Amino acid sequence: MKSQPLEIERIRADFPILKKRVHGKKLVYLDNAATTQKPRSVVEAIGNYYTKHNANPHRGVHQLSIEATEVFDGSRKKIGAFVGATDYDEVIFTAGATESLNLVRYGWGSPNVAEDDLIVLTMMEHHSNIVPWQLLAAEKGARIEFVRLTGNGRLDMEHFEELMEQSPALVAFTQCSNVLGTINDTKELCARARQAGATTVVDAAQSVPHMAVDVKEMGCDFLAFSGHKMLGPMGIGILYGRKEKLQEMQPFKSGGDMIKEVHTTGARWNDLPYKFEAGTQNVEGVVGLSAAVDYLQALGMDSVREHERELVSYALGRMNDAPGVTIYGPQDPSERGGVISFNLGDIHPHDIASILDEEGVAVRSGHHCAQPLMESLGIPAATRASFYVYNTREEVDALMDALAKARRIFCI
Ligand SMILES: Cc1ncc(COP(=O)(O)O)c(C=O)c1O
Repeated sequence: MKSQPLEIERIRADFPILKKRVHGKKLVYLDNAATTQKPRSVVEAIGNYYTKHNANPHRGVHQLSIEATEVFDGSRKKIGAFVGATDYDEVIFTAGATESLNLVRYGWGSPNVAEDDLIVLTMMEHHSNIVPWQLLAAEKGARIEFVRLTGNGRLDMEHFEELMEQSPALVAFTQCSNVLGTINDTKELCARARQAGATTVVDAAQSVPHMAVDVKEMGCDFLAFSGHKMLGPMGIGILYGRKEKLQEMQPFKSGGDMIKEVHTTGARWNDLPYKFEAGTQNVEGVVGLSAAVDYLQALGMDSVREHERELVSYALGRMNDAPGVTIYGPQDPSERGGVISFNLGDIHPHDIASILDEEGVAVRSGHHCAQPLMESLGIPAATRASFYVYNTREEVDALMDALAKARRIFCI
């Protein structure tokens, strides 16, 4: 069934910040891969929680604590279902994708990865999906191999296959690159890695906000994402884990709530998912993320994806026609998410971003926490425009006008 087009003007009205002016110009917010703006419903849900239900969940028998527990646990079911996790026990609240990946590194990696084991990553990973595994490899004496990329920014599947033949212990990869925009076939990668006997970790920080994701269909062991990149608050994220894996794992953080009983001689861990949720939790984050999921579900994830695909197609067309622009990643918009990283001549990306900012256009410049990828592209940095549900073609035009100004200033 064809997805319904998004009603952009109605959506924009839900985001008061989009009315802001920057340096006297209309704000054009194109830094959504870093963090997205929040609709009024998310902000109001948090306010409503604090004014009507606030208490510490799971801790009291009084009415407010019961209400806070209902909000907290009810949100877990909804957020889990959003990514196809039908079992409540498989959805762990964390501080974000980074913490989710660290939980796997400590909880699963430390007890299961041994000396000389192989960990397979890809050249398009964010530092959050590299550094934890480097620390693990250093701790265990394991080795890491990075799947190379093809010239058009896709994974080199022949190299991936060669690495699978070496029976890796762990294979960790992104579903969507935060720099190239490349969307990887996670179902195929998980199936092949599993066949090779590996545990699979999917970094979904740039995919769950932008497309329909189903962990069961994908067949991953772990999947990590952050709330703030999908209209929710900062400081909240999810680790989905296959139950058998989570059961065999050690806690990552310890303290209150993650135990069944504590004696002077030791402690027994709580059941899933609480075993991994030590201390008072970020309930306002959970409430906000739950409201963000409601918002995205009302739009429909297929419609979200189609809107971004169309916008990226338009932006790629305009950028390809502009002199001096080098675009990284696949050219086919159906192979990529809503990010476009580029360089303009040899102008430093920070200069580009500053000129764009003067025109009200917010983009990101730098290495985008993907230095190995930058090295493999032979560049120190790039400028990145990233889109979301409220962005329009007119905003792509504003980006192009601002780039034309940069070209004039630098005489390109
Ligand atoms: C692909 C990818 N993975 C992981 C992360 C880390 O997310 P967070 O900083 O929310 O933990 C990011 C953030 O930019 C990302 O783009």
